[in-house]
Amino acid sequence: MSAAPSGLPRTEAAPRPRRRVDAPARARITAVTSGKGGVGKTNLTANLAWHLRQARKRVLVLDADLGLANLDVMLNLAPKITLHDVFTGKSSLEDAILPAPGGFSALLAGSGMVEYSRMTPEVRDQLLAVIEKVAPRYDHVILDTGAGISDVVLYSVSLADDVLVVVTPEPTSMTDAYATIKVLAATQARVKVKVVVNQTRRHGEGRAVCLQLQQVVDRFVNPGLATPVRLDLLGQVPLDIAVRDSVLRRQLLLDFLPSAPAALAVVGLATRLLT
Ligand SMILES: Nc1ncnc2c1ncn2[C@@H]1O[C@H](COP(=O)(O)OP(=O)(O)OP(=O)(O)O)[C@@H](O)[C@H]1O
Ligand SMILES: [Mg+2]
Repeated sequence: MSAAPSGLPRTEAAPRPRRRVDAPARARITAVTSGKGGVGKTNLTANLAWHLRQARKRVLVLDADLGLANLDVMLNLAPKITLHDVFTGKSSLEDAILPAPGGFSALLAGSGMVEYSRMTPEVRDQLLAVIEKVAPRYDHVILDTGAGISDVVLYSVSLADDVLVVVTPEPTSMTDAYATIKVLAATQARVKVKVVVNQTRRHGEGRAVCLQLQQVVDRFVNPGLATPVRLDLLGQVPLDIAVRDSVLRRQLLLDFLPSAPAALAVVGLATRLLT
């Protein structure tokens, strides 16, 4: 692991589990995260999953926002069994995996559960065990994390092969995205970070935001690292009223209005993820 930039505390995030060379095919695990909350992670996760499923991939989304989950709302599901029941041994993992609209699978979590505001060794082990069990059965597992740099978020991200940071062009969101990237570099040696700029208002804004973030990372994070952090712009998604409309209807945007500009942009992102 590369040296942490000075002044950054190391969190207790576990080292990322390594894939054995002779291991059977398993899912590519992508964590969708952000510095600031409410930037569009859950909406993006669900719509990415929808498109990947239409592309005939086996997809599971997991609500890793364990204490404040709302992927179920986005998917219009009312789960009777959640990850909490699996963690506490009340239900089997099989029973907790639900069919989501569009044919992908979902592992949902509860909301308002203070026990998941901090990561305990038990929850760590349980979450890792769940991921290890589902990974061989899917092509893609997408973790919809909470926002910020809590140990719950960082641990979920540590379990993923790829991290996708969602940011909007607002300075507050960019500042928090930078903080997330800096902490991921320091605690998990993440040197490749995919970036989605959401809620853009003009062509090229995503590129400008990503470039600005890269410049700050180059200046303040990369000098302390053996391998520099590189941000890879997966794409931009425009600010589009159709997104809000789809959420209000509790229908996924790609189902509700596949021709909407934001829907077309998500399809572009998913296609790039697949390549
Ligand atoms: N491209 C977009 N255009 C317009 N509105 C959007 C767009 N993306 C997201 N939104 C709006 O932002 C709201 C919040 O999105 P979402 O719940 O996906 O954010 P989040 O990052 O998962 O939030 P949290 O940090 O609370 O988990 C959506 O319900 C939608 O109304
Ligand atoms: Mg969310």
